[in-house]
Amino acid sequence: MYRSRLGTDLSDITLDYVSSINDDSQIALYDLLGSQAHTIMLYENTIITKNDAKKILSALESLKKEKFNTSSGAEDIHELIETLVIKKAGMASGGKMHTARSRNDQVTLDIRMKIRDDINIICNCLLDTIEALVSLAKNHQKTIMPLYTHLQQAQAGLFSHYLLAQADVLFRDFDRLYAAFSHVNQSPLGAGPVGGTSIAIDRHSTAKMLGFDGIIENSLDATSTRDFVAEYVAMIAILMTNLSRISEDFVIWSTSEFSFIELADEFTSPSSVMPQKKNPDILELTRGKTAEVIGNLTAILTTIKGLASGYGRDLQQIKSSIWSTSKISISALLILKSILLTLHVNEKEMKKAAESSYLIALDIAEKLVQNGIPFRTTHKIAGGLVQIAHQSNKSMNKLSMKEISKIAQETKTNPKLIMEIIQSTTITSSLKDRKSFGSSGYDEQKRMIEDRMEKINNYRINATKRDNDISKALDNLSNKITELIK
Ligand code: ARG
Repeated sequence: MYRSRLGTDLSDITLDYVSSINDDSQIALYDLLGSQAHTIMLYENTIITKNDAKKILSALESLKKEKFNTSSGAEDIHELIETLVIKKAGMASGGKMHTARSRNDQVTLDIRMKIRDDINIICNCLLDTIEALVSLAKNHQKTIMPLYTHLQQAQAGLFSHYLLAQADVLFRDFDRLYAAFSHVNQSPLGAGPVGGTSIAIDRHSTAKMLGFDGIIENSLDATSTRDFVAEYVAMIAILMTNLSRISEDFVIWSTSEFSFIELADEFTSPSSVMPQKKNPDILELTRGKTAEVIGNLTAILTTIKGLASGYGRDLQQIKSSIWSTSKISISALLILKSILLTLHVNEKEMKKAAESSYLIALDIAEKLVQNGIPFRTTHKIAGGLVQIAHQSNKSMNKLSMKEISKIAQETKTNPKLIMEIIQSTTITSSLKDRKSFGSSGYDEQKRMIEDRMEKINNYRINATKRDNDISKALDNLSNKITELIK
């Protein structure tokens, strides 16, 4: 339809190469809504007549219910929709729909509407997953486990503490996406191909009708910039990286060597040959798909970085990277939430692991500190005790006075005091004593759980408000359309 100055049609191979029609299925509805707002604006500013507007709007409205024929020969959804509108409304009216806009502002409008919806969906999914983490934490405030550094047992801790840490990570993902929304939710519509239009349009009114918070003012910026896409995908790449780390923990912890957790059958896969297998394929795929999202970000940045100012068709290629990014992250969050809600936690194994090594060494050192001994000395004492206990293959509280006396002498410390401390220090006592703000002690868990529950509720209010604001604007648009075409 657009080939006014071009003599020949595209061959099938070239059309297939150039067409984005398959990727565009994800933005078809946004394109229809954008076209409706634009049409109403044209009418309200006396650029087209009421009769023209009526015909165009009715055609667009009926297209909402139709399935598009992707092999129509159109290069993209914008061309296809305009062709169909002209067919339905006639050239005299339908031919006016594309007045004072271009596919360049149209496509970025559609992408912005799609991403803002995806951000809202992902924000809600994030809150559901965070809630699953916090409610699991509620049940495991007393579940002792080793905390690791270098994947070596480091300190005794609580499973709730681990879960709350992941909740906090996801809260930050929410914050980032929530903030990125404000860069996305600005309308580029009416910017034209690159430099604006001589027709007296009202860009603010289309922005308002479509639920945008404002407009991207500069028409060159509006049509050619995709920084908001890169920002969104970068935020999701970070989110996926976080989910990938949780997945890795769960993969390790569900091995028979660890046996800390067992995934529900529905989140595992069998082997084609080994009948006993219960593989954590689903979590492995979160790790794998994270790589795909990072790849999407790389593809997008690489596309943008060398592009001269103004729209270039290269930009068409980034759409599939956006769709894939959204789909992966929504599924990964939904799945993780369900995994958490069906997870079997092997409390005995976790505790056994925590008790099998010398996790109370630092707690012993700190108790000596409470008795006025410099930390560096207590580090030496506790380290020495671990060494002796390890050599004689016993736990620290089983050390004899004789075994203690050597290190006591070396550090000029009262051996009785050391004995008293190692006798009274257990993993449970150390978790009772762990009182620093945000620590893995018993007391902190309750406080943090209550705090995070409240935070979830507050975040939900904000997320819902955003959803509602957009729905309200689109409802108003829909009422306006009904009013005009009746
Ligand atoms: N299908 C195109 C895309 O996805 C729409 C914009 C085409 N604009 C143009 N000047 N050729 O980016």
